[in-house]
Amino acid sequence: MFFIGKGAKKKDIAPEHLPGHIAFIMDGNGRWAKKRGLSRNIGHAEGSRMLKEVVKACFSLHIRYVSVYAFSTENWARPKEEVDQLMKLLLEYLKNAEADLEGRAVRIRIIGSRKGLPEDILREIDRVESNTAGNGEMDFIIAINYGGRQEILEAARTLAGEVAAGTLRAEDIDEACFEGHLHTKGIPFPDLLIRTSGEQRLSNFLLYQCAYTEFHFPDVLWPDFKERHLHEALYSYAGRKRRFGGL
Ligand code: FPP
Repeated sequence: MFFIGKGAKKKDIAPEHLPGHIAFIMDGNGRWAKKRGLSRNIGHAEGSRMLKEVVKACFSLHIRYVSVYAFSTENWARPKEEVDQLMKLLLEYLKNAEADLEGRAVRIRIIGSRKGLPEDILREIDRVESNTAGNGEMDFIIAINYGGRQEILEAARTLAGEVAAGTLRAEDIDEACFEGHLHTKGIPFPDLLIRTSGEQRLSNFLLYQCAYTEFHFPDVLWPDFKERHLHEALYSYAGRKRRFGGL
């Protein structure tokens, strides 16, 4: 049994009842700041700080994969000043990633389109991905400039090109082949998706991958998401019966 301490209910959860992959939609930074009369940017900075804590908490629970939606393809539509601030936070986050992980063997992987991302971010992505590639205890996947529909379209386009070039037969395109063309190639699908702030939608995050994912929508803004909220999500998940379309 696996003891999740300091939780709301203090209860054991057997390791096989913990999710192998948790995806987070870190929503509510702006509302958190507004409630305090602060700028949205401060909300995002707090959100970034909270993310570091959540990653450490997941690591100590031996969660094998953690994904987060840091910047969507739709987020470019926000005011330039907010986009610039988010890029600055991402850059800082990537630059400090290894130091913040304090020796934990976490492999950092970035998914999303590289097109349109600033040069300095691209450089940091390459650096942090290659520097952490040998770490095998947890994979931390950060979605930057990511959109689920775009990812599916891109896969379809690549596959169509392979068929046109004669290197692939259309009838050989099965689930495994298609999944091998997604950004998440080799990463198991999320078992649990947590979206904070009370909003209950996917917002173009991991559309294909979340077909059988369990959802949890706590009524807490992301900068307030504490370890106990993670534990509540895990208790809720552990109590669910997943049938994957069967009985
Ligand atoms: C949604 O809150 C959050 C985002 C669009 C960005 C998430 C980014 C962070 C948590 C910080 C940066 C990330 C990293 C990896 C350093 P919102 O702005 O939509 O909040 P609102 O709905 O209350 O306005």
